[in-house]
Amino acid sequence: MKISAKMKKALQDQVALEGLASNSYLAMASWCEVTGYQGGAAYFYTQSDEERTHMIKVVHYLNDMGATATIPAIKAPTASYKSLEGLIKTALKSEQTVTKAIHKMVEVAQKEKDHSTYAFLEWFVNEQVQEETKFETILQKFDLIGRDKIAVNEIDKILAADAAAPAADPVA
Ligand code: FEO
Repeated sequence: MKISAKMKKALQDQVALEGLASNSYLAMASWCEVTGYQGGAAYFYTQSDEERTHMIKVVHYLNDMGATATIPAIKAPTASYKSLEGLIKTALKSEQTVTKAIHKMVEVAQKEKDHSTYAFLEWFVNEQVQEETKFETILQKFDLIGRDKIAVNEIDKILAADAAAPAADPVA
């Protein structure tokens, strides 16, 4: 089994992208923690851990394919946000970027008839559907419940409950 140089480069870029997502969510968790959104903090600390596991999945895959992963430097994420809603909008945008990158890799795998990478990426395709839906659903709450202090506090409680719920496996 071997992967092409192009596929390797795309997977390497994905390691960096998942690492950046992990770092961004860590910054969001920290901002929530100091701003008084304890639910948001718990939610994004967990989300940050999840992204780190995604990054490691790609590292393992590269190594398993004999393509030795390189661990990249990770850019410092934005550290301050104007509101919980703004923060979640940023999270959704970041997921949309990740989804695009994964779909591009799937297309490369298809073109190259790289069945191993294609199969490996299936988990990520499903995971992205879940992640985007998750953030879209939270954003809907601002329209449904409101944006005043009491409403945002309610939304923070929803995030706390979500963080406490066991994570679903995207392919289960
Ligand atoms: Fe691993 Fe949420 O992208």
